[in-house]
Amino acid sequence: MMHIERHPILGQQVNEPITIYFNGKPLKAYKKQSVASALFANGIKKLGQSRKLVQPRGLFCSRGRCCSCYMTVNGEDHVRTCMVMVEDGMEISPNLEDPDVRSEIHGD
Ligand code: FES
Repeated sequence: MMHIERHPILGQQVNEPITIYFNGKPLKAYKKQSVASALFANGIKKLGQSRKLVQPRGLFCSRGRCCSCYMTVNGEDHVRTCMVMVEDGMEISPNLEDPDVRSEIHGD
């Protein structure tokens, strides 16, 4: 794992450990981490794939300005994972298809 536990300038960087799930696999994360940074710290750099060219997508801007880090989080499609903090028990998976805009989660 690549968690920065003690930064030379910012000091203590990890908080309470929690468990998140990527494709059903449990991973260690820390409260106040973004989903994308927690995945990156666990060695997961491919967050999805492009629709047209089917190429890997990962962190690009890391500040909520693009759509490179879209993933499904707790059943919600196309979540910008660089902007969402982890929660204990959170289930995360890559977006591999277009969202089902007619499903109940998005309303009819
Ligand atoms: S990496 Fe650009 S919005 Fe998340």
